Amino acid sequence: MTEYATELLNARLKAVHDMAVSGLSGLQDRRLIDVGSDHGHLSIYSLINDGFSYAILTDIHDGPARRSEEAMRMYGFADKSSVYCTDGLDGVELQEGDVIVMAGLGGNNMIDILRRVVTVADPAVLRSIVWCLQPQKSSDKLREFLAETGFAIIDENACEDRGIYYLIVKAVFTGEPYKLSLTEKFYGPVILKREAASEPIVLKYVERLDGRFELSQRGDEEIRKMLTERRDDHEQN
Ligand SMILES: C[S@@+](CC[C@H](N)C(=O)[O-])C[C@H]1O[C@@H](n2cnc3c(N)ncnc32)[C@H](O)[C@@H]1O
Repeated sequence: MTEYATELLNARLKAVHDMAVSGLSGLQDRRLIDVGSDHGHLSIYSLINDGFSYAILTDIHDGPARRSEEAMRMYGFADKSSVYCTDGLDGVELQEGDVIVMAGLGGNNMIDILRRVVTVADPAVLRSIVWCLQPQKSSDKLREFLAETGFAIIDENACEDRGIYYLIVKAVFTGEPYKLSLTEKFYGPVILKREAASEPIVLKYVERLDGRFELSQRGDEEIRKMLTERRDDHEQN
């Protein structure tokens, strides 16, 4: 498929986009919601290439919200989009089949946003929504929250952009809480499977996590326990 306006997305956002839409049918009947839209590029790229019916962009700060609005107007999508200056999804009515992206926000920020959504959204609508999350930090806390709240992690991957490795998580709400092992919490259930399959980008991403956890284990008992669990898993396999 020919892709247009490829210059709009850096490698990280392209990877987020690709995971968000992968395996989804009926995009013409779905809306894309970009939380923390900043420049609005993800929505423009998606409206051009995927045929989403509509885009909703939210940003907590007035400057980025205005920037997003201006970008949508410049690309001729003023009638196919709405921009909200709001915290997360506050004030946005969710619809069945929405694809919601949160990229470049901290994991704790995402948890706050998701927690409020779960409280107010219609459970049937919530179950039909696909979430694509690219947390800048606190991915362990985010995964723990997803598991405890009943969001199934249906995919995870790593991507590399200018020498930095990023995590992307795709989730859907099932309403059924579950438990993650410590290694799943800190590395990610799907990341661990991709590591076992020796996927090159994931191996590099995991190598960096290993280094980070080796350092932080000194002052963190949970990470020490997790690394023991990881060593045991490796010995068994
Ligand atoms: C680092 S930028 C990421 C922009 C874009 N999503 C990306 O991945 O390139 C984070 C953006 O999210 C916005 N933001 C941070 N917290 C937010 C929240 N709770 N709700 C909505 N927007 C938020 C910031 O104002 C900023 O524009």
